[in-house]
Amino acid sequence: MCGIVAYTGPREACPVILKGLKRLEYRGYDSAGIALLNGSLQVYKKQGKVSELEKLLASQDTSGQMGIGHTRWATHGEPNDVNAHPHLSYKKKLALIHNGIIENYNVIKQDLLNKGYAFASETDSEVLATFIEDIYLNTQTTLEEATRLALQKVVGAYAIVIISQEGPRQLVAARKGSPLVIGIGQGEFFVASDATPIIEYTNEVVYLDDHEIAVINEQGLSVKNLESILKTPYIHKLDLELEAIEKGGYEHFMLKEIFEQPRSVADSMRGRVNATLGTLQLGGLTEYINRLVSADRIMIVACGTSWHAGLVAEYLFEEFARVPVEVEYASEFRYRNPIIRENDVVIAISQSGETADTLAAIELAKSKGAIIFGVCNVVGSSIPRATHAGAYIHAGPEIGVASTKAFTGQISVLTMMALIIAHRKGTITESTFRKMLVELENIPTKIEKALQLNAQIQYISETFKNARNFLYLGRGSNFPVALEGALKLKEISYIHAEGYPAAEMKHGPIALIDEEMPIVFIATADSSYDKIVSNIQEVKARHGRVIAVVTEGDTLIKEMADFVMEIPATHEALTPLVSVIPLQLLSYHIAVMRGCNVDQPRNLAKSVTVE
Ligand code: G6P
Repeated sequence: MCGIVAYTGPREACPVILKGLKRLEYRGYDSAGIALLNGSLQVYKKQGKVSELEKLLASQDTSGQMGIGHTRWATHGEPNDVNAHPHLSYKKKLALIHNGIIENYNVIKQDLLNKGYAFASETDSEVLATFIEDIYLNTQTTLEEATRLALQKVVGAYAIVIISQEGPRQLVAARKGSPLVIGIGQGEFFVASDATPIIEYTNEVVYLDDHEIAVINEQGLSVKNLESILKTPYIHKLDLELEAIEKGGYEHFMLKEIFEQPRSVADSMRGRVNATLGTLQLGGLTEYINRLVSADRIMIVACGTSWHAGLVAEYLFEEFARVPVEVEYASEFRYRNPIIRENDVVIAISQSGETADTLAAIELAKSKGAIIFGVCNVVGSSIPRATHAGAYIHAGPEIGVASTKAFTGQISVLTMMALIIAHRKGTITESTFRKMLVELENIPTKIEKALQLNAQIQYISETFKNARNFLYLGRGSNFPVALEGALKLKEISYIHAEGYPAAEMKHGPIALIDEEMPIVFIATADSSYDKIVSNIQEVKARHGRVIAVVTEGDTLIKEMADFVMEIPATHEALTPLVSVIPLQLLSYHIAVMRGCNVDQPRNLAKSVTVE
């Protein structure tokens, strides 16, 4: 939610910031803006995508070697030029960019209004800018100190960067609850919401922690906490290639990421699964493995697609490890008073590692004494740092807003976790364990095969691109796949879609079925095959149009369905890793045919750092 970039150094700041903002557009694209320091502060802002800002800047003097930029996902105030960031403070001494929400901004705003200040925008961020300026000017202190004093009074989440036209040339950055990475180059510094705007300049970064303030000036970088205690920043070496964040010849990031899955799933297993030796390990779990193995119950917290991966994991953990599992929306879990017992463990699943509700759920579970495991993609993000142990999925940067390769990476890692527990507990036989390792190692090839359906799915999409509703039905662990297929379609094509357990169709959705209604069945050859065949018959009896994902060689459903998509057979428990692929492609092609912006669907953002 909102992307921020800042630069100071010998280069012209504007092109560096614009390029960075484009990389961060997945975080929000309602408006964009930039503030450049060249003697005085120049601020340019524009509703719409970064490309609109770029057009505006083409006719301006954009010189300056220090600046801040922002791409917005609107929270307070509609997306327009005025509400766009950066925000100038009332006396225009400083400019600020902000990712997050200042919850008590109304109280602060009222105090400032009483003092005679006025505000141009409806945002909480402008209030913060003027609040800091008020302290800065009235206490004759440094910008850093004014920021520190202001932040001590702020309730909410923020990643901010401030520049001022007064005092020494400096960037002041701070975070609580929203991510901030500082890149350290040769005599230059970068600040951004994630490392993607930084990697082509330097691979040395510092991840700012919550309640820390960084000051970047001619002396270099200094980091303090909100109590003014100096911290020694740990410099991480980034392991990220530029190609990983570029489209690589694909029309959209989403398509590239769908096609990356044979590799990304293989990467999730690399050095972990060895079917020849019969070994399986997840290094990040080692310290707390006994707690995981002896858990009486596993609670999974997540949002969106990650929650769907959690539902798949429920089947895996219960099937193999024979441990009860509850899968919770993080946003619901945190507002209840969940019962967490001594031997319960919590697994938080998150692609970005920054989702505010998932982070808050972790904090709540921690406060109740739980051991928390993380399954995340973005290395160094907040959730892996907040959990006791965990495993990265190593999918590489996922930039398309609709999650694809993260989903399969999460299922892959969760399968490994389930098998590790099961093996240690003795709830599966050695031969089943080894068979599963072989199956896991074969999954990338099977995904590759499923991707060959692309042209056929493009053809099917043509038939259904104007549908107004879709139903997705599956049983067992294909039920979460149905949910995920429906979510993908509605996210990027704006077609209303619902996922249901196939048997539940009789209890409501069947009333919707007519000759207009496409119904996607995930009907692979598994233990509930006969039942799902009956469900398909029920739909056909009502003239619904059936698109079925079936196992290669299926003949029965081929007779009944309007269209079939054949995927390779695998172990029933691993089916979601393959059966989701055609559904990703179906949503992609339908959205493209409808002229939708696939990588940046309206109103959505990839990283939801507000609650
Ligand atoms: C947003 C994204 C989804 C994602 C969800 C959870 O809604 O658009 O793709 O599944 O957040 O995000 P996380 O990063 O925690 O997996």
